[in-house]
Amino acid sequence: MSGHNVWTHKGTFLLAAVGSAVGLGNLWRFPYLTGENGGGAFILVYALTIFAVGIPILIAEIMLGRTSRQSPIMGMRHLTKTHGTSRAWETIGWLGAASAFLILSFYSVIAGWAIHYTWLMLTGSLVGADAQTISTGFDALLAAPGLMTLYHTLFIAASALIVGMGIHKGIESGLRIMMPALFVILLVVLAYGVINGDIGAAASFLFTFNIADLSLEGWLQAMGQSFFTLSLGMGAIMAYGAYMPSNVSLTRTAFAVAIVDTAVAMVAGLAIFALVFGAGLETGQGPGLMFVTLPLAFAEMPFGALVGGVFFILVLGAAISSSISLIEPVAAFLVERFDMTRPQAVTIMVIAAWAMGLLTVVSFNLWAEGTIFHTLFGRTAFDFIELLTNIFMPVGGLLIALFAGWALTQSEVMKELGSSVAWFKLWRFLVRFVAPAAVAFVFLRTLPQVEGYLIPTLGALLIIGAFAASQRWLKKPRQTT
Ligand code: TRP
Repeated sequence: MSGHNVWTHKGTFLLAAVGSAVGLGNLWRFPYLTGENGGGAFILVYALTIFAVGIPILIAEIMLGRTSRQSPIMGMRHLTKTHGTSRAWETIGWLGAASAFLILSFYSVIAGWAIHYTWLMLTGSLVGADAQTISTGFDALLAAPGLMTLYHTLFIAASALIVGMGIHKGIESGLRIMMPALFVILLVVLAYGVINGDIGAAASFLFTFNIADLSLEGWLQAMGQSFFTLSLGMGAIMAYGAYMPSNVSLTRTAFAVAIVDTAVAMVAGLAIFALVFGAGLETGQGPGLMFVTLPLAFAEMPFGALVGGVFFILVLGAAISSSISLIEPVAAFLVERFDMTRPQAVTIMVIAAWAMGLLTVVSFNLWAEGTIFHTLFGRTAFDFIELLTNIFMPVGGLLIALFAGWALTQSEVMKELGSSVAWFKLWRFLVRFVAPAAVAFVFLRTLPQVEGYLIPTLGALLIIGAFAASQRWLKKPRQTT
């Protein structure tokens, strides 16, 4: 992965970025978080963050990758030199590596559930099953750490193989078929939801904005989700941006990624909640939401076993195309930092993330609510890992915004953006002030929360630290270029 390669097709960046963005975050995490956090209010905060903060940071992140044409840590090191700022900005790369590692650890466990359901669908085991049977079946899966570990191992090994072999072609053409297919199947599920479910209830749940419904932690989760779903704030997009040809429009690409990603999440949400309300299920059932409601629909639908099988295969495809870009930043970091070969780096990253993933596995059984771990820490290890990523990603994004907003010169940015001065000014205002303020606001708002004092406080300190540090880091004068 040396510096000056550029993707052959103009559309490849878009495809790769969409592949990274669209994943379990859209199909699994978005609906269940929405369900747990009061529906519309959550979506409002989520959507506002996507457009006012997510897209500007997405642009900033691609820009940093494309101007430096290197992987995140080396790229930041290079930019700090050419812009006379402190090397501390490399933190962006470090935080990114940490987030990628943490996300991969639980991502693989959840994707493992989809392997289980692909199997159940294709063997027709659930045909005609009722809600009770299906939710009992899911609980049985969660209660089986051995089985979950097996699936987790399969998924992470498959991702590692793909990254290790570096098949660009396979992924590219695979994505080109899979992404549209996923969308079509989603629409089929939605149509089924419209006919057999309660689409009206779903729409009013999702689009009735009552901000009072949102708990304090909900704010953090909504913002965290908007970063998570766009794969933001952790260098993955920067790494991809490094291969983006200079003549492709940054702005248009960023909007396209955000719009496709949001559309997939909304369709998934509508489809799932139409079925939830239709079957009289609970909205706030947590991480199991997609794995209980959709199989129920497939159990009753004509050709449900087949449609369901294809659906879960596509979920796996979407998850793999994301997980490979989660491995990449850390692997690249290990190669640069410790002079490892690519296969060595991938192996180490994956084994470590696999081991960490066991914490997520036991969060649903051996260390679930009511066990010592939960009693001691007040949440499961999985919740804890998610919370950490909910902090790291926005802070990473904040630093990216600050650097792109304050350190890059107007002419550099104009060259990258390739659009009008008005848009430049709007973008720069958003990354200089709005994005940092939004991140700070969310952290400060979660501060008074009783249960999680430590984490929000830490987050707030990190923000204040980032602000203070960034002033110093930016002002360390050297030559200007
Ligand atoms: N965006 C992915 C999803 O929605 C998950 C993700 C978060 C991710 N950060 C990432 C994927 C970084 C690749 C790289 O499922």
